[in-house]
Order: sequence, then C-alpha cells, then structure tokens
Amino acid sequence: MPKIVNREEMAQGTIILNEIKATRISQKAKPGQFVILQADETGERIPLTMADTNPEKGTITIIYMVVGKSTAKFKELKVGDDYYALIGPLGTPTHIENVGKVICVGGGTGIAVLHPITKALKEAGNDVTTILGSRSYDLLIMEEEMKAASTKLHICTDDGSKGHHGFVTDVLKETLENNDIDLVVAIGPIPMMKFCSLITKDFNVKTLVSLNPIMVDGTGMCGCCRVSIGNDTKFACVDGPEFDAHKVDFDELGKRLASYLDEEKQSLEAYEKSIA
Ligand SMILES: Cc1cc2nc3c(=O)[nH]c(=O)nc-3n(C[C@H](O)[C@H](O)[C@H](O)COP(=O)(O)OP(=O)(O)OC[C@H]3O[C@@H](n4cnc5c(N)ncnc54)[C@H](O)[C@@H]3O)c2cc1C
Ligand code: FES
Repeated sequence: MPKIVNREEMAQGTIILNEIKATRISQKAKPGQFVILQADETGERIPLTMADTNPEKGTITIIYMVVGKSTAKFKELKVGDDYYALIGPLGTPTHIENVGKVICVGGGTGIAVLHPITKALKEAGNDVTTILGSRSYDLLIMEEEMKAASTKLHICTDDGSKGHHGFVTDVLKETLENNDIDLVVAIGPIPMMKFCSLITKDFNVKTLVSLNPIMVDGTGMCGCCRVSIGNDTKFACVDGPEFDAHKVDFDELGKRLASYLDEEKQSLEAYEKSIA
C-alpha cells in the first residue's frame, strides 16, 4: 500500500506535502509526469504531479492545494497512513535538452509541478532564470528548492511582501527584453499561463505550459481531459499535460474546469458537515 512517510503543511496549511513510498514509480518517473491517487475505495481519482522523486529511498513527493472534498480527505491522512490507490507514472515526460537560456515561471502549486522540470533543465546545462509568484510571501512554496534548481531566482508577490511588488508577467517581460531567451516554461493558474503565453508570443519565444483539466482515468480512455490545441483536440493525460502555450485555448479550459462548480461546492459542504 502507498504509505505516507513524511507530511508537511505549507502556505498556512492550505498546501500539503506528502512523501509516499512508491518504489517502482520513483524509479520510472520522469520530470513532467503525474500520478493518480485515491484516499479510499469510493474516493475520486485525483491527478497530482510528482514534485520530486527519490529512487534510493523509493519515494515520490506530491504537493497539493486543498481545494475541494477529495483534497480535504487527503489532508486528513497522516504519516503512517496509506492511500487506497496510487497509479503512475502517467503522462508524457517533458522533453529535456540543452537549448541555452530558459525562463521557468511558476505560481501557486504550479511551482511544485515546475520543480522537477527546472532541475532537469539546469542539469542538462541550460542557464535557467526562475520567476516565482504568490499573493503574499507566506503563501510561497519551495523557494529554497527552486533556488537550488535555478541559475537565478526572482520572487514576485502581489502585495509586495517580498521581491518584486507585482505579477510574474512584469519580470518575465523585463527578462525577455534584456536577454535572448530560447525557451519559457510557465506553470500555474490558468490566467497566469495565459498572460505569460501572450507576452512570449510577442517575443516569438517557444513556450510550454502544463494543463490541468478534470481527469477521470488518466490513460486516454474517457475523453474527459480533452483540450483544444490549435485545430486539434488532444487528451491532456496522454498527449500532455504539457503543450505549446501559443496553441492552447485557455478560455475553453477555464470553462470546462468550472463545469461542476455547484456540485463541487455541495460535495465539500456535505463532507465538512460529516466530519464536524
Ligand atoms: C495532470 C494534473 C496534475 C495536477 N497536479 C497538481 C499538483 O501537483 N498540485 C495541485 O495542487 N493540484 C494539481 N492538479 C489539480 C488537482 O488534481 C485538483 O486540484 C483536484 O483534482 C481537486 O479535487 P477536489 O475534489 O479537492 O476539488 P473539486 O471539488 O473537484 O474542485 C474544487 C475546485 O478545484 C477546481 N478543480 C477541480 N479539478 C481541477 C483540476 N484538475 N485542476 C485544477 N483545478 C481543479 C474546481 O474548478 C473547483 O474550483 C493537477 C491536475 C492535473 C490534471
Ligand atoms: S482522463 Fe480520461 S482521457 Fe484523459
């Protein structure tokens, strides 16, 4: 059973880190891949990206934001508890090569998703400038890990509590204006990825984003995770989750993610009542 061997609360308890025993996945996983977890037999299947792996210890690390019923159930699991089910590694790994100068932009739990990709891009010899953003400094995660994984690190906060007072897009634009950049990887909330993509399009710089549509099976069977990429329909679970940002229909993705808002709210309220 996939046992939790380490657990940390981050960003004032809104984000949880779980290190989980999963020997074979830890040995096979590559940057950009995700797993699907279930808390119990009747639980929802929740996709989460591996923020780190440790093949020697046989563990993987996931970092998730508590947003609804299933992630609230996950939050109840303590060190020594088992997840009911864990499958992976899923998805197409990030294509890692030495392209030269890279900018990695991360926001919210997107920083956890970005971490293994940034680390691998630097290990491949790239000069990696990382730009991280959060509403305020106390909500920022993985600063030390991202510093170690990057050549240069910029912090941006909406309230000015640390680093640049403003959005990651300000620093992205300035960095693009002053450097010849070969690749941008942007992972975070949909509006962040959308606006990063609009900026890099103006500079004609290849840009990758990691998409998070609602998923069910995670293996290309159900069609739930379909996204529009240029004129094509793709399944994020097998064709992605990374795609060419300049071809992504971000507005459609946002609408599809909001399809079950009422049901998600009712489900969380009923769960909170049941454990109160
Ligand atoms: C490939 C992939 C990798 C992901 N990796 C991470 C990760 O590393 N860390 C992390 O915190 N989250 C990640 N997510 C998002 C995570 O799966 C959702 O937050 C989770 O499914 C919400 O479940 P819930 O029952 O707690 O919330 P729900 O009740 O299902 O939803 C609550 C709120 O979250 C939004 N939501 C629902 N599903 C998703 C989704 N798939 N993506 C984004 N928002 C969603 C809803 O619109 C709603 O506002 C990833 C998603 C995908 C597809
Ligand atoms: S989640 Fe079912 S096809 Fe991708």
